Amino acid sequence: MRVVLGVSGGIAAYKAALVLRLLTEAGHEVTVVPTAAALRFVGAPTWEALSGRPVTSEVWDEVPSVNHVRLGQEADLVLVAPATADLLARAAHGLANDLLTNTLLTARCPVVLAPAMHTEMWTHAATVANVALLRERGVTVIDPASGRLTGKDSGPGRLPEPEEIVAAALAAAGGSDDAVGSGAQGRLTGRHVVITAGGTREPLDPVRFLGNRSSGKQGYAVAAAAAERGARVTLISANVALPRPPGCEVVEVGSALELQEAVHDALAEGQHPVDVVVMTAAVADFRPAHYTESKIKKTHGEGDESAPVVELVRNPDILAGLVRERGSQDSPYIVGFAAETGDDTGDVLHHARAKLKRKGCDLLVANEVGADKTFGQDTSTVHLLRPGSEDVVTIGPAGKDVIAAGLWDAVAPALPDRA
Ligand code: C5P
Repeated sequence: MRVVLGVSGGIAAYKAALVLRLLTEAGHEVTVVPTAAALRFVGAPTWEALSGRPVTSEVWDEVPSVNHVRLGQEADLVLVAPATADLLARAAHGLANDLLTNTLLTARCPVVLAPAMHTEMWTHAATVANVALLRERGVTVIDPASGRLTGKDSGPGRLPEPEEIVAAALAAAGGSDDAVGSGAQGRLTGRHVVITAGGTREPLDPVRFLGNRSSGKQGYAVAAAAAERGARVTLISANVALPRPPGCEVVEVGSALELQEAVHDALAEGQHPVDVVVMTAAVADFRPAHYTESKIKKTHGEGDESAPVVELVRNPDILAGLVRERGSQDSPYIVGFAAETGDDTGDVLHHARAKLKRKGCDLLVANEVGADKTFGQDTSTVHLLRPGSEDVVTIGPAGKDVIAAGLWDAVAPALPDRA
């Protein structure tokens, strides 16, 4: 693959040398395009020696070969690591004042930016808006890691590890050669998928909530597998304490209503229509009818031993709502999850079939649950059911990554071609 590795002027530029090494060792042809500021941190000879190719940061070199247009046009992947706040701003606003920004404007291949900067710069409204704009246009912006920064301070803004950057970049470019499901049938290149994960928390007062035991492991595995297969992934994450999967845009939510709003926002985003929604999250069916602004006290008066009664109201069924609201054209493929046990009225499959009918989705992933099964575990058994078919695909007991791969193997070939 022909890769342009852009390097902008931050202290993390030295880590780009390791990114370059990983890419060349994997057999990719890499041209390094540093900015002038990057060259103040790491000089051109380092990039030339490691890439085996000439290095320039200006548009005035190699003029006869129209370098400022050719590099972008010929690239299969443009990766910028580190991407400074200044580079993000220039990329978001289409400036073309050096070779790297010219390359970003002429590239039609996947573009991946790995920002690194101080926390104040990363969280500044200008940077937040630039990142949102770039993501809206289909650019993959990897969230920076949290940790020690250049000085004594720490916080979000660190460049992720070179291995993570390369994994996310190759995923965005359509997967590494050995990526899971790299067969054409299982690929998700050019697709936009929205995945919900974790469990919602329904607030009762400022310190208490009604929650559930979902760890988010299955949803995160589904998101990681989709990114590996080349999809743009919006991962809507409810109260999950797991590392972010590489190459996914993560939207954090708390309650069911917040999750519903995040799903609707992702679907309403016009630039890159959503092809698939996977509702892995355990969404609370009920929430407290009233939220109490201050902490609910144990007793109200001397000798008062009474306990408060919590009144509940129904949450919307987000999955069923998505099915109801979808139009005939360009509607996403909708996948539901169901945690089921057998009982005297029927087995797991019997209950799953009834749920598939009620929800009306395109695929139902029925999880066998029990006292020690599924929640927080690394393995589980699932059955994939489709409307109008008696066929059932059973996966497991297996790791949640194997289940995620099986899910995409079933979904990817069922997606209609996009015009
Ligand atoms: O009805 P049940 O909770 O078993 O259905 C589970 C499926 O429905 C999951 O895909 C879950 O994400 C989704 N769900 C939802 N909104 C709710 C409850 C569940 O979208 N209020």
